Amino acid sequence: MIFEEINKDIEKLKKIVVSDPKVKISESKLTYRPYFKNGEILFQEEVIISNKAYHNNYTFVDFKERLEKELVAYYQQIFIMKEGSNISFFINPNGKIKRREEKNKLLSVKLSEHNKEKKYILEEGEKIPALVDLGVFTTNFKVVSSKYDKFKQINRFIEIIDNEFNTYDKKDITILDFGCGKSYLTFIIYYYFVVKRGIEATIIGYDLKEDVVNSCNDLAKKYGYNNLHFEVKDVSKGLDDQKVDMLVSLHACDTATDYALYYAIKNKVKNIFSVPCCQHQVNANIKRGGDFDLLLKDGLIKERFSALLTDSIRAEILRGMGYSVDVIEFVDFAHSPKNIMLRAKKVHGLNKSLEKVEGLVQKYGFEQELYKLVKEGRKNGDK
Ligand SMILES: C[S@@+](CC[C@H](N)C(=O)[O-])C[C@H]1O[C@@H](n2cnc3c(N)ncnc32)[C@H](O)[C@@H]1O
Repeated sequence: MIFEEINKDIEKLKKIVVSDPKVKISESKLTYRPYFKNGEILFQEEVIISNKAYHNNYTFVDFKERLEKELVAYYQQIFIMKEGSNISFFINPNGKIKRREEKNKLLSVKLSEHNKEKKYILEEGEKIPALVDLGVFTTNFKVVSSKYDKFKQINRFIEIIDNEFNTYDKKDITILDFGCGKSYLTFIIYYYFVVKRGIEATIIGYDLKEDVVNSCNDLAKKYGYNNLHFEVKDVSKGLDDQKVDMLVSLHACDTATDYALYYAIKNKVKNIFSVPCCQHQVNANIKRGGDFDLLLKDGLIKERFSALLTDSIRAEILRGMGYSVDVIEFVDFAHSPKNIMLRAKKVHGLNKSLEKVEGLVQKYGFEQELYKLVKEGRKNGDK
């Protein structure tokens, strides 16, 4: 019955999520995504163990066998997402199966040739005039070769947002972009929500640079993007609190990422997508103090270690402030060496102790901006 459901209209299948194991195991959730290779449908399995993603590929026949012999036997929930509907199966301990179906508003995106002819949410040739003005597309809507990495980055960013929001059924959304710069991403997020999805998006981009902010506002006006605007702001100087649904930052320099994350925490922003940039702060002041001293000996390793430590601390703090966090590879290293994304979602309102971070800060004597902001905030009674 479950396999038949998957096989029916298989061209509409987006993903299958298998969860709620009958006994406690580390593989608590498995995700399967279909793709075509050489005309054959295959399934990519993803399992997250201790925040690391592992992948396996299955042929159609092997996937059927795995589903029927193993997954149905060991898990209690199977969720099938297709264009137009979400179907959930609940398997009780006696093997009885309950089925539930709900409508969704998924975009029609064709199954892609995995790793070969990848279909993006935004296709080369798609008439997105703002991308021409921003120099990413030529006037024929072809990607400008020197902007190929940028096109990859914004497409991937949108793909990650789409994974989270393709079933979003509210009519509006408010989004902030910290350190928006020339705002390739900001324009594309607006295009995705307003033009592609018909959702009323209000998007504000903050940046230090007045000239860039002015030209972005002119461009938004030119295309009648009424609820897209840009403000000259130093995000480290305190911003007014407001109701925001999503916060994004793409390569916001050094501690600007920390101010973005702190703003999201303070305003209980539900979804955060943040790709940090250069991270100088910890590298500049970390001292030898314990087991990690070997990693602080050579400048290059110290720099990389400090950057990873910074992002680990950011993820840990977000978790401590009620977010579920995935640290994911944003794009291939070849398209940007700054390729870690913190994808976070507010899941509860409890604030946990940050003693692990405190221990490291004490032992290695460094400052980390997000930690400092959260600590001060707690002292001042932030909830
Ligand atoms: C590397 S650019 C990235 C721009 C854009 N997000 C992108 O990916 O194309 C970083 C941007 O962050 C801005 N920025 C850095 N510190 C900032 C601060 N304290 N407040 C506001 N903007 C800041 C810079 O002006 C710059 O435009």
